[in-house]
Amino acid sequence: MTSAEKTRTGAGRARVAILISGRGSNMAALIEAAADPAFPAEIVLVLSNRPDAAGLLRAAEAGIPTEVVDHKPFGKDREAFDRAMDAVLRDHGIEIVCLAGFMRLLSAWFVGAWEGRMINVHPALLPSFKGLDTHARALTAGVRLHGATVHLVVPEMDSGPIIVQGAVPVGDDDTEASLAVRVLAVEHRIYPLALRWLAEGRIMVADGRCRISGAAAPEGAMIAPAL
Ligand code: GAR
Repeated sequence: MTSAEKTRTGAGRARVAILISGRGSNMAALIEAAADPAFPAEIVLVLSNRPDAAGLLRAAEAGIPTEVVDHKPFGKDREAFDRAMDAVLRDHGIEIVCLAGFMRLLSAWFVGAWEGRMINVHPALLPSFKGLDTHARALTAGVRLHGATVHLVVPEMDSGPIIVQGAVPVGDDDTEASLAVRVLAVEHRIYPLALRWLAEGRIMVADGRCRISGAAAPEGAMIAPAL
């Protein structure tokens, strides 16, 4: 993987599919951002592996075409399921794939096919707390800062070059639920940023690290707790 710029096939707005398994609040944040004609990507498909995903209704309400590729008939054959999804994505001329609460492990074949063009949002400051139950584990670990990450997808789960992160302080009275609300709000802010940068071809990857052309680290520090 070198430059995301090379993954764009044509001029104009990048054609994006969002893959979901559930409620689709990150999907909704991406749809809202892309509703601005000046946004460099358009959401042309929402694909779910679950026919009952609530996000499908939300997408349809927003006028976005939806498809379902149910994973169940494929049993343990992950690659066959992934190939079925890939066929749908190609039918729709998709250039960029956004995983938004898509809760299936992807085969190395699928990840390779979309390398540099597939991003994921994760509810933790990676590489801490990969996997599930991130907020409960952050509380158990006693971290004072928690947050969310958007990263390029590689075969290893919740890994891959980090594009953008957002942090929230963790208070003594925080619960899994209260933390989830604040981290989700951060996810909704950072995911559209990452998609924008990918669609603009501004993400370069070298030695497993992303560089975003034109971006700079903000000044200052977040210190928690405060007295
Ligand atoms: C989000 O918090 C997302 O970060 C998480 O699932 C939730 C989906 O919510 N994804 C993962 O844990 C993937 N490792 P949403 O359907 O409302 O966007």
